[in-house]
Amino acid sequence: MHKDKFKEQFARATAAAFRKIYPDIFVTVGDSRVFNENFIYENLETPRDPKMGRFALPVFKFALLLKDKPPLIASNIAPAAMWFFEENNIEPLISIHAAGGFLNAKTDFKILAKDTLQTVLTKGDKFGNSDIGRNRKLLVEYSSPNIAKPFGIGHLRSTVIGHSLRRIFKKLDYDVVGINYPGDWGTQFGKMIVAYHRWGNKDTLENEPVKKLLELYVRFHTEAEHDDDLNEEARKAFRKLENGDPETVSLWEHFKAISNEEFNLVYSTLGIEFDEVIGESFFNDKMEAVIERLEKAGLTAVSQGALVVKLNDPNLPPCLLKKSDGATLYVTRDLAGLIYRWEKYRFYESLYVVGTAQSDYFKQALGVIEMMEEAEQLSPEARMTGRVKHIDFGWVKFEGKSMSTRRGKLVFLKDVIDQAVTLARKKIKEKNPDLKAVEETARMIGVGAVMYSQLSVRRQKDINFIWDEVLNFEGETGPYLQYTHARLCSLLRIYNDDGRRLVDYSLLDKEEEHRVVELLADFPETVTEAARLYDPYPVASYLIRLAGAFNRVYQRKDEAGRIDKIISADKELSWARIALVRAVQTVLKEGLYLLGLKAPEEM
Ligand code: ARG
Repeated sequence: MHKDKFKEQFARATAAAFRKIYPDIFVTVGDSRVFNENFIYENLETPRDPKMGRFALPVFKFALLLKDKPPLIASNIAPAAMWFFEENNIEPLISIHAAGGFLNAKTDFKILAKDTLQTVLTKGDKFGNSDIGRNRKLLVEYSSPNIAKPFGIGHLRSTVIGHSLRRIFKKLDYDVVGINYPGDWGTQFGKMIVAYHRWGNKDTLENEPVKKLLELYVRFHTEAEHDDDLNEEARKAFRKLENGDPETVSLWEHFKAISNEEFNLVYSTLGIEFDEVIGESFFNDKMEAVIERLEKAGLTAVSQGALVVKLNDPNLPPCLLKKSDGATLYVTRDLAGLIYRWEKYRFYESLYVVGTAQSDYFKQALGVIEMMEEAEQLSPEARMTGRVKHIDFGWVKFEGKSMSTRRGKLVFLKDVIDQAVTLARKKIKEKNPDLKAVEETARMIGVGAVMYSQLSVRRQKDINFIWDEVLNFEGETGPYLQYTHARLCSLLRIYNDDGRRLVDYSLLDKEEEHRVVELLADFPETVTEAARLYDPYPVASYLIRLAGAFNRVYQRKDEAGRIDKIISADKELSWARIALVRAVQTVLKEGLYLLGLKAPEEM
């Protein structure tokens, strides 16, 4: 965990003060760890109003414990903590003030500025790195679209969140393996094969094959409503596939090739990478061993001809391993996959970035694993239980509408990206008619808008994708961040400074400038917070705050109402401000990278 040295100093001084002023709390609580430095550090908050201080301890939360009124606690502790510096001959980096039920800490700006800006400028894109993940193997599964179905906007969210987590954890030195697990097996292939034989032929799949496959799939479902034979036929076709019938297998291969071409196009457009791509079908020959293992552990039962595992949790339905006709299921392959990944990697943690709709499903699968490991009385090190996490996320609506593959109500991601790029191109031409690399920039912005839209709220929340919102250059969007980055780069171009000179950071004495420096100092903790929550959102919202704070510096007016320019006749001042610009540009670029967005230098 990255530790902020200002917060550390605050924690040390106030812990000593608490010990002095409230000596009996340790007796009362019976656990001397309660008010120690770590406890205080972990309870620090960021004040709503930055003027109140850079961080604060909400002492009112501990009033009951300390048996004192919150404002009294605060006004007792503040001077005692400051006295601690005096007494121990420590040069204070902060000043501590009582304000109602809070202890607010203001940082000594000169020290904070020098410390932060120098660190950012020397570390560059490594600012915020940490080694907390050293020697920890972390698996992240994301994307996992289904073969023979279009890559919908639903899979986009998994892709964007997972890919960003991969980068965030790498920054913290985790040994990350990004995994794509395409759905290339299951009874739906029986349906596709029947639909293809009935209503399609080779020519059907000549142009826009993915859309044609979807049409076949949708037609199957509408016709199956009044044609009972279809479902039976589909079951037979799938059995043929399972038995390796060459003609059926080659049709399946053809579907796979069509889909993969489309998926790979999406990935390269979005700049998404994986370390491993292993689809569901890989586990076909690995399921029998899992079933045997579960049987041996005494966990299986036969229910109406089907093989099931009854879970300990009474709220969960039994986990179905094999249907009465012998067909295996999605979960059977996932169980084989869980075991396979554990044996292959012995991971520290393994994440599955999959929508909330599959929450109960993952509870079932992980419940089965837990029961199995328990029944086998494995040693703690041999168990994956507790290390596997379903990283769920909310629904994605498109312009207020939900989507469904079966009914063919679907927005194609490819179309969304094309539209985003078209709109971005139009906007860029309006804003900057002289820009040379229009195509490349439009692509970065369009893609950036689509990707940021998936990260703009906490992952558990639903998203409604609205064109006017995601492409708004002034809103909380990807293009806004990218535009701010380009603006920073153009300032650096004008100044053409190598950044290597002695700068007097105390010249950055405007409130707006202080705010930017404080935010820069918060970046490392923001990254660890994102990792702790398994959610890129803290980074995404942080960047909006940083860009906003910088834009307030950029647009600041002096007393006479004139824009107070970054670069002015005052050389020393310009140097200091350019150092600030360079630091913001560095952090913004790295932050965008962590989210998976490109940072254009001109737009
Ligand atoms: N292909 C699945 C779907 O689209 C998602 C797979 C999620 N990963 C897993 N290991 N089950 O619903």
